[in-house]
Amino acid sequence: MKLNYQNIIKDDNSLLREKSEPVALPLSAENQELLTAMLTYVKDSVDPQKSQEEDLRPAVGIAAIQLGIRKQMIAVAIQDENGDFLEYALVNPKIISHSVQNSYLKNGEGCLSVENMHEGYVYRHARITVKAYDLLQEKEITLRAKDYLAIVLQHEIDHLSGTLYYDHIDKTNPFKEDPEAVVIE
Ligand code: NI
Repeated sequence: MKLNYQNIIKDDNSLLREKSEPVALPLSAENQELLTAMLTYVKDSVDPQKSQEEDLRPAVGIAAIQLGIRKQMIAVAIQDENGDFLEYALVNPKIISHSVQNSYLKNGEGCLSVENMHEGYVYRHARITVKAYDLLQEKEITLRAKDYLAIVLQHEIDHLSGTLYYDHIDKTNPFKEDPEAVVIE
């Protein structure tokens, strides 16, 4: 299975607003293949040559519902603030605790399923603890995340309940300040 940008449903498709279902473990061969293809998309999408040749729009994460598949699976591949490459292929991810303090991306968020511009701050929890099954580690994990990784994970986990990043932008004051919040450059 090989995914490209054409496989991704956009926010004019109401399926994107539906809730995803928990996925049975151990993971079926079909679900392993899907989740692996999702992670490959994300990793290849930031390679300029592959991105162009294979019609991939650059991304750091993807959820199965963005392919129109209502399964609780997400793939994330980022380079964190220390320059480390972090990859996760998560099944049934759940945020089990979070900080009171917020954080946000200075330049706002983007999404493979959103083609229009939605400017404004998207406040997320600065620190989260996620429980999930990780296909890469082939086990249940408890993941403590902060900064950029925490934001990306919350964005993808939001997709599982049909929430899009711009739902979090204050309609009347999109750049409303939260002086306590961590700014991620
Ligand atoms: Ni998204």
